[in-house]
Amino acid sequence: MQKSIGIKKANVAVFISGTGSNFKNLIQHSLKKNSKYKISLVISNKSKAKGLIYAKKYKIHKKVINYKNIRNAEKIIIDLLKRKKIKLICLAGFMKILSANFIKKFKGKIINIHPSLLPKYKGLNTHQKVIKNREKFSGCTVHFVNSKLDSGKIILQKKIKILKGDTSEKVAKRVLKEEHLLYPKALEKILINL
Ligand code: GAR
Repeated sequence: MQKSIGIKKANVAVFISGTGSNFKNLIQHSLKKNSKYKISLVISNKSKAKGLIYAKKYKIHKKVINYKNIRNAEKIIIDLLKRKKIKLICLAGFMKILSANFIKKFKGKIINIHPSLLPKYKGLNTHQKVIKNREKFSGCTVHFVNSKLDSGKIILQKKIKILKGDTSEKVAKRVLKEEHLLYPKALEKILINL
């Protein structure tokens, strides 16, 4: 009988705060035959984050972190990341700012998805700003996290056209679809070099 040679997949943690559609999408991608990663941990700063249902569904270790004291919160997170042998952190709609210390500790090992064509429109309400400024294009970006908000090195980006009659809701919907294609691609791309 032939023994199958299992390729060891990298342990990834996903940090969420809300709906978790990117989290779900990353899980589903990780289950594909040739994927190089496994989601071993999900962290949420909100106990009611909708996305936590996918932790239950796909049997992923989940931890809700109380962020009242950021030092304590990050200490708990760091312990968990060590215990779970996490190689990479994916922020997916995580609405808390990580401390400079935390970012330094995991330099090159934290990535984020942002719903704009960075460096344009850092921060919140990107789609509203795009519509207000009558931009011709928008999109999404996966980038490394550094100590400045939405400013780390870009890994991959996808552009979409703004159409006549677009609203911020319509753009958000189309961009999110692209996020679901872009994030797994970016993840696989950087895992080769980790
Ligand atoms: C996504 O559009 C993501 O790009 C955005 O939050 C949404 C989360 O959706 N992230 C940011 O704005 C971070 N600055 P999801 O919970 O369905 O994945």
